[in-house]
Formats: sequence, C-alpha cells, structure tokens
Amino acid sequence: MNDTDHKLFDPELIRRYDTSGPRYTSYPTAVQFHDGFGEADYREAAARSNAAGGPLSLYVHIPFCDTVCFYCACNKVVTKDRGKARPYLDDVYQEMALQSALFDDGRPVDQLHWGGGTPTFLSHDEMRELMRKTGEHFALKSDDTGEYSIEIDPREADAATIRLLREIGFNRISLGVQDFDPVVQKAVNRIQSFEETKEVVDTAREQDFHGVSLDLIYGLPFQTRERFMKTLDRVVELDPDRLSIFNYAHLPQRFKPQRRIASDDLPSPAEKLDILGSTIEYLLDAGYVLIGMDHFAKPDDPLATAQREGTLHRNFQGYSTHAECDMVAMGVSSISQVGGAFSQNVKELDRYHDALANGRLPIEKGLVTTEEDALRRHVITELICHFRLSIPAVEARFGIDFRKHFADALADLKTMADDDLLHLAADEIVVEPRGRLLIRNICMAFDEYHGTLDGQRFSRVI
Ligand SMILES: C[S@@+](CC[C@H](N)C(=O)[O-])C[C@H]1O[C@@H](n2cnc3c(N)ncnc32)[C@H](O)[C@@H]1O
Ligand code: SF4
Repeated sequence: MNDTDHKLFDPELIRRYDTSGPRYTSYPTAVQFHDGFGEADYREAAARSNAAGGPLSLYVHIPFCDTVCFYCACNKVVTKDRGKARPYLDDVYQEMALQSALFDDGRPVDQLHWGGGTPTFLSHDEMRELMRKTGEHFALKSDDTGEYSIEIDPREADAATIRLLREIGFNRISLGVQDFDPVVQKAVNRIQSFEETKEVVDTAREQDFHGVSLDLIYGLPFQTRERFMKTLDRVVELDPDRLSIFNYAHLPQRFKPQRRIASDDLPSPAEKLDILGSTIEYLLDAGYVLIGMDHFAKPDDPLATAQREGTLHRNFQGYSTHAECDMVAMGVSSISQVGGAFSQNVKELDRYHDALANGRLPIEKGLVTTEEDALRRHVITELICHFRLSIPAVEARFGIDFRKHFADALADLKTMADDDLLHLAADEIVVEPRGRLLIRNICMAFDEYHGTLDGQRFSRVI
C-alpha cells in the first residue's frame, strides 16, 4: 500500500463514506455544549486547573474583517469601520481581568494565539496595547521561548505590520492563502496576489520568526487537480515550514455568505479525493511530512518531531505540540478548555458587551467532560494524530477491556478493514495510507454522540 492508493477509490466506496461528520478539534465536539453550563461551572473548572497547575495557553479572538470571503466559516464581523475595534478591545480587557482573577498568578503562558476574523484589522497601537494588557494580566514569557502565533491575512498586513508583531512578542505566523488561481479567487471574493503574500513571508523570515505556516483550502469552486497543483507550485516557492490544507466545509444554511457559491461550481467528491491524493503526493515529494489529516510540516519542524515521538495533540487551532496546557480563551465565540471543561463565549458583539458591562463572564454554553469522554477523546486523538492505536496501552491507562467496551466501534471498523482503510491486529489498530483520507469516518466509530445529532451541523467528510 502506498500513498497513491487514493486512486483506487471507486464511486461506490466514495458514496458509502461521503457522509457528514466532525473534524474533531475537540471531543466532545462543540455541538454537545449546552446552556446548562455557566459561570459557576467555569469557576469550578478554573479551580481544578489551578490544583493541577502548569503552564497556560491563551487565545484572543478578533472577529473583524474588511471584506467577506464567501467560503468563510469563521466567526467574523465584516465591516469597513475600523472604529469598531476600540469598544471591542475595552470589552476584551474587561474579560481578561475577570478571567485572570480565576487563575493562579505566575502560571507561565507557553502558548498564545490571536485568531479571527483578522487580528491585523487592529491598528499598530491597538495591537501593542492588546499585548501589553495581556502581559498585565497573565505571565507572558519575554525570552522568546513561548509559542506565540497570529493569523495573518496578507491583504491586511505589510512588512511594517510583521516587524511590529515580532517586536511585541510573536514568533509564529499563519497566513491565509486558500488558492492562488485567479478564477477561484474571484469566485470566493478573495483577490490576493502572490507578491503581497511573498512580502509577508519574506519579512517574517528576515525578522527571524520561528515558523511560517500557510492555509489552503481544497474543494473551492472551479478547483481542479491541475489548477490546484499550480497553486502548490507557487506555495512551495514560498517555502513554508507548515501547511494546512483544509477540506472546504460548505454549510450554506449556517454561513450566509456561502450561499453566493453555487453548489454546481464545486468539485465532485471524486475530484476532491483526487486533489487531496495528488496534494499529498506532491508535498511528500517536496520534502514535507503529512501530519494528521490536513497538516504538512518539514521533517525538522516541532510538529513532525511530535508526531514521530507520539506526543502530537489536537485542539481548536488544529494540530499542536502542547498537550498539557489548559486554554483560556477570550473574545466573542472563543472556546476555553480548562480543568476538564469546555466553555464557549457568546458570539454576538452586543451580548458580549452586555455581559461584561454587568461584571459577568460572557459564557454562552459549555460542558464538563466525563471519564467516558476522556477515554474516547484519547482514542480519537491517537488515531487522528498518529494513525495508530495500541490497545494494551489504552486498557492499561483507562482500566477497560477494549474489545468489550468498544464492541460496536470494532464492528464498524471491521467493514473499514475490509475496505482496506485500516488494519485490525490483535493488539493495535493501524490506519492504512488510504484510510488517512477518511480518518474522520474512522474516528466517528468511537464518537458516542455521533448519529444522535442533526447531521446538517457538520461538513462533508470528503
Ligand atoms: C479564521 S481564518 C483566519 C485567517 C485570516 N482571516 C485570513 O483569511 O487570512 C483561518 C482559516 O480557516 C480556513 N477556513 C475558513 N473557512 C473555511 C471553510 N468553510 N472550510 C475550510 N476552511 C476554512 C481558511 O483556510 C482560513 O485561512
Ligand atoms: S477567511 Fe479570513 S478574511 Fe476571509 S472572511 Fe474569513 S476570517 Fe475574514
């Protein structure tokens, strides 16, 4: 079996596996969060987190974007009014004060991430101020040993922006590219030149950023295998350390701007598998390692090392090398993962403001995970990160009889084994190369909640 075996997918097989399902950036997934979870639960979770101690990971969500990309599934506010940032930042500082009071002083911030929306929608002064305020509330590292990253839209950043970001403490950037093809760019309302992207990448290198990552999406309107390979030619010229190649999540009922993308213009499931399979081949040839289901990294990148050493993890930002950090998230729609609980903030600016103006944490929903959740999360994380699961290791760690506990899942896996997606040995489950393309289906077999929910809320697997 080799990595070109994606070509062996026949239409019948594609039909059977092209269902909807989670991407497992968390388990349980966000659709399980419920509004019975509130501020008191979060305080208890923070107390458990303090009892365990250890470093923290911080996330700050900046929702604003100047223009809308039609494919976008992120929580964003599209506006030309830069003045909107000011009152929002004041609310974020309010939340920071409330949140930081819950956590023991001095827990070092090993990871920091600004996501969006478009974080560089903020002015230089605002970005400086946001970092300074964060440092007043949390123990930021000043020696460049933390992993401090930011999402960049190259249309909203130039060399001066990148220099400023380095100066205030960032050392990793991820850039939205999606596709360099002009026809695709027009269809998704995101016109972005190779040159403006290169300026950002070159400046990041010059400023000694530790890592540059690029985001692409496959499955966008008018994409074909040939055209996407041309985009990859240009991408490899930029020599990124990491690449995320996301499967386009098309959910027009949920994301209104996606209604401007005609379903007829999208590549078929068979074409998408072909694009993905060829992308994997192309990037392996170019010297990258496949990390999990949609990331690639250079072999000496920390993500690749973590995968080799079996310490790779998955969180809301995708794959990560930091397993043990509790994540404190601030801003609209952001999700914290603290002391065995998930907590998501309200999504609307006015509700966010109202909660904070009344001195309340702006929590909308969440959940406290159970022992069973922790077991299933471990199994899903192992499979989606390492494509392999040691059955005795799980039994020893959780005190279960694996075959008894997961009898239903193993019955599903038997069919997948017959389809050559995986190998079921006496003491381990090994995902075959072509099963990697359908890893979400494999994980779903271990998801206790899957099938109990409205399938409309998840994107297509292929
Ligand atoms: C929150 S966006 C932020 C990046 C920044 N605003 C930009 O556009 O450059 C992060 C990434 O999510 C991905 N993304 C957004 N919508 C998506 C969708 N519907 N399906 C798959 N990936 C998507 C894109 O690759 C995007 O770069
Ligand atoms: S992809 Fe980025 S810039 Fe485009 S709408 Fe989404 S968050 Fe905004």
